[in-house]
Amino acid sequence: MTKPKLLISRKIYDQVLTQLNDHFDVEYNAGDVVYSKEELIKKLQGKSAVMTTGTERIDKTVLVACPELKICANIAVGYNNFDVSSMTAHGVLATNTPDVLTETTADFGFALMMAAARRISESEHYLRKGFWTKWSLDMFTGADVHSSTLGILGMGRIGQAVAKRGAHGFGMNVIYHNRSKLSDPLEQACKARYVSKEELLRQSDHLVLVLPYTQEVHHCIAEKELGMMKRTATLTNIARGGIVDDAALVKALRSGVIAAAGLDVFENEPQLNPDLLGLSNVVLTPHIASSSTKTRTAMAQLAADNLIAFFKHGKALNPINQL
Ligand code: GLV
Repeated sequence: MTKPKLLISRKIYDQVLTQLNDHFDVEYNAGDVVYSKEELIKKLQGKSAVMTTGTERIDKTVLVACPELKICANIAVGYNNFDVSSMTAHGVLATNTPDVLTETTADFGFALMMAAARRISESEHYLRKGFWTKWSLDMFTGADVHSSTLGILGMGRIGQAVAKRGAHGFGMNVIYHNRSKLSDPLEQACKARYVSKEELLRQSDHLVLVLPYTQEVHHCIAEKELGMMKRTATLTNIARGGIVDDAALVKALRSGVIAAAGLDVFENEPQLNPDLLGLSNVVLTPHIASSSTKTRTAMAQLAADNLIAFFKHGKALNPINQL
């Protein structure tokens, strides 16, 4: 029997590749180059399946140009690189990799928040540059994390995992805002209280963004919202670039509207706003919140499992759209 043709658009783990080779006629991007849209379309000719990462955009132009495509398996839980309604209209199934990255991503969100609050990157740079000549009582004083108020915007699986770390591990008062209020048992498990977005902004000592990106939430943290936050507060973004207006955040960090930020995601990444690089009160990481070896392997494996299940049983494990 002829195997379905699959494009693996980025480099993945060898053991997952070996497995996919058993089931598919694979074209593999071993060099891990980022394809332009034209290159992606060219590579997708004749392919019925593609494994993508958040970097590859599957939109109407791609779908029209690649009529044989049946499934796109994203190695990510977020899927703002997919135009899902066009995919549905073209009969293309979209899948993602939820659950396997929840705890790892929450760990990282917490680490980034703590690094911003306790000025870990800033003080390390100071030390590495050889400026540390004596200990001082008020050296790099930051904000406490324990017993402070943790605000979470977006209370899905990852938001809840961040909340549990704060409430149970650090004795934090946890508040959240979400499209919908959680059920009472879920709120109790997270020891979290639902508040309006404005209350969240005004009351949080440490605000963590964990909501999915959609057009509706574009720049939902901009000058006005930053202005409502405490001057001592930190902002951590492990969700997506575009949720925060990065230019407004630069201004707020520069002028002391908020104290510090931890950012793993950016507008136009990997070309981030250059002004961020000149600020000492922001911790910057290159979109690695889910990046433990175990979790990244599990994500690639789950994307592969989705492809295999779809062609074997006609049903994927983590469908995003209904065809
Ligand atoms: C990472 O950003 C993901 O969506 O999995």
